Amino acid sequence: MQNFTYFNPTKLIFGKGQLEQLKEEVPKYGKKVLLVYGGGSIKRNGLYDQTKSLLAEIGAEVFELGGVEPNPRVTTARAGIDICKKEGIAFILAVGGGSTIDCTKAIAVGAKTDDDIWDIVTKKATAKDALPFGTVLTLAATGSEMNAGSVITNWETNEKHGWGSPFSYPKFSILDPVNTFSVPRDQTIYGIVDMMSHALEHYFHHEENTLLQDRMVEAILRTVIETGPKLLEDLESYEHRATILYNGTMALNGMVNMGYHGDWATHNLEHAVSAVHDIPHGGGLAILFPHWMEHTIDANVGRFKKLALNVFDVNPEGKTDREVGLEGIKKLSEFWTSIGAPSRLADYDITEDSVELMAEKTVTASSEFGNFKKLTKEDSIAIYRASL
Ligand code: NZQ
Ligand code: ZN
Repeated sequence: MQNFTYFNPTKLIFGKGQLEQLKEEVPKYGKKVLLVYGGGSIKRNGLYDQTKSLLAEIGAEVFELGGVEPNPRVTTARAGIDICKKEGIAFILAVGGGSTIDCTKAIAVGAKTDDDIWDIVTKKATAKDALPFGTVLTLAATGSEMNAGSVITNWETNEKHGWGSPFSYPKFSILDPVNTFSVPRDQTIYGIVDMMSHALEHYFHHEENTLLQDRMVEAILRTVIETGPKLLEDLESYEHRATILYNGTMALNGMVNMGYHGDWATHNLEHAVSAVHDIPHGGGLAILFPHWMEHTIDANVGRFKKLALNVFDVNPEGKTDREVGLEGIKKLSEFWTSIGAPSRLADYDITEDSVELMAEKTVTASSEFGNFKKLTKEDSIAIYRASL
């Protein structure tokens, strides 16, 4: 285990009826509030009205930025930054999924600098400060509600990059499982795949003595595998929504990956696909992860064997370690297929024609990527071809 410092300043407020806490939390930061949300789901499920009336109760002056896209665009973040600067916004409230929250992080940081936010996303400039912001999460998936990461798309250059800074943690996040009841079946599936993928990205490392960390990651995977199908049978089950919501946060708030670095190549591969084809993040991960695994298994067969035994209960009798590992990969694919996740790029009409361009996008930030096994553009091509 490597040395580490853990610090997470986000106040997590979880459970039924917790939206009321806005009345406690928001006034701490000011009354000029920018409310940021997506394409309208919060207007359909009543959350917009509830939020507005709570903000009215505390006398907040509310400005709005709606229409944040899934795979949020840098142009939308810039529009939010302009509002903050022009109106002297004191606090930003994101109400939505990972895209709305990620866009809000970019707005919060961009509002406090003259640098263009895309330069910060692409690491040509550094975040120096941020407006305070909080979130009301409506979709269990990314963990953005309790981490400093944000993923922004530039549709003009077909690039999608993750960035983060010490200033981009939410001050608070309100997680009421009821607010996730209306998440449609397909988005629920993508969320399940995304949180499992975060656990898997952590799992593939070469660090020794990470017994507790590995077991926590395995616990997330086992819990999601057990609960996901039950939730898909009953999308308005409070218990199952709560379990999945909590798992999503825990999978990417830094708690389970202290003292080592996970891989993260598959996320880079997926972001490149989304940058060119604008597909849902979780859908892309379900297609790519098993192929990344098959491509890299020989980098450390032991990790794949451990996953197969401890998460997928593969029977090792009479099999080599590699065979056990491969069976684990197959079981992961079968699980994702069984819940209705896509398994081929062709499911999104992506063909050989895009492979070269997508592979090029995987190496725009650096010529090699991934910590478990360093990958190059040639590896990206091979993994995309296997995924067609
Ligand atoms: O836009 P609205 O109308 O709100 O609809 C959204 C959107 O169409 C809908 N939705 C959300 N909550 C709902 C709901 N529909 C009905 N009822 C609700 N309660 O779901 C659709 C997808 O929303 P989105 O926010 O895009 O989904 P998600 O939370 O999966 O976020 C995906 C984005 O996060 C990035 C991804 O790359 C992608 O851009 N990621 C962010 C990470 C982070 N910040 O840590 C890590 C992840 O690995 C990921 O890369
Ligand atoms: Zn993800």
